[in-house]
Amino acid sequence: MAPKQTLIVDCDTGIDDALALLYLLGGSGVEIGAVTTVSGNTDAETAALNTLRVLELARRTDIPVSVGARSNWCGDVPLAPHVHGSDGLGNTDLPAPTTAPSPEPAAELIVRLARRNPGALRLLAIGPLTNLATALLLEPDLPELVEHVTIMGGAVRHPGNATPAAEANIHNDPEAARIVLRAGWPVTLVPLDATMGELLTEQHQRRLAERGSPTTLFTSSILDQYFDFYERDIFGERRAACHDPLAAAIAVGDVAPVLAPVVATDVDTGDGPGRGATVADVRGQYRGFPEQQGANVRVVLETERTFPDLLVDRLCGAPEPTRRAA
Ligand code: RIB
Ligand code: CA
Repeated sequence: MAPKQTLIVDCDTGIDDALALLYLLGGSGVEIGAVTTVSGNTDAETAALNTLRVLELARRTDIPVSVGARSNWCGDVPLAPHVHGSDGLGNTDLPAPTTAPSPEPAAELIVRLARRNPGALRLLAIGPLTNLATALLLEPDLPELVEHVTIMGGAVRHPGNATPAAEANIHNDPEAARIVLRAGWPVTLVPLDATMGELLTEQHQRRLAERGSPTTLFTSSILDQYFDFYERDIFGERRAACHDPLAAAIAVGDVAPVLAPVVATDVDTGDGPGRGATVADVRGQYRGFPEQQGANVRVVLETERTFPDLLVDRLCGAPEPTRRAA
């Protein structure tokens, strides 16, 4: 019998990280073996406490949460309270969690679970890639032990959001991202090209509020802060991108990308204006992306742009249409 698939979510919880966790816990059928945290939207400890709060809301305090890298390989990560609020969860001030993070460091936990379930572990990384790169250094055979890695990060044919060229998760630790993309394991990258087309609106927020469950009231209220940021700094309107939830849905096969070529992809680790940019060879785009030498990453360039409805259905516990295959 094939071993049961387990997913480790590595995140920097974060408004959209919280949405991704609640989406996965709302009925994806996947077993979450652990959640590991990294500094990004907030510091790694706060991200772990936020994760515990979210798990408590979903009544899944059985899932271990482990704190990972506090700083990236080049120093401190600039946190993002202007996007996610001063508590990282939209200033909702949820009470302190009743459970505590595991004492095991994140990278060690990833390695331990991979050795315990060879070939049956999937990784979903929705923050900077520091923990994954550290795990690769601890266990050079990790690529053979892990079934698949899905990463929310990068900007290929889309502008960056941290700099004109770079997306935040990759920009917060370009050296780590380079190690992860070059590791020789199967990687799906879900960049801004896809996530900026999947937009939550005030209509979605109203549906969540009207459903009235603790989870939907929480998700509706964290969207206030997210919409404030997107209205002020990005769109001039109250709507927001589904970065991490989309990557989660792709990782578990709920969303099949419309365009996702496998192409040679690397990260700019220089000191110039391109630092942290994901450089993917999409020159074959006019020829249907023919097979390419050195192709190492499946890059999701387009999705159907209907995912926010599925996300809200899932959070509201509504019956969903039949799942599509990955
Ligand atoms: O650029 C978007 C990504 O950066 C998301 O993962 C968000 O949560 C932040 O980590
Ligand atoms: Ca994130």
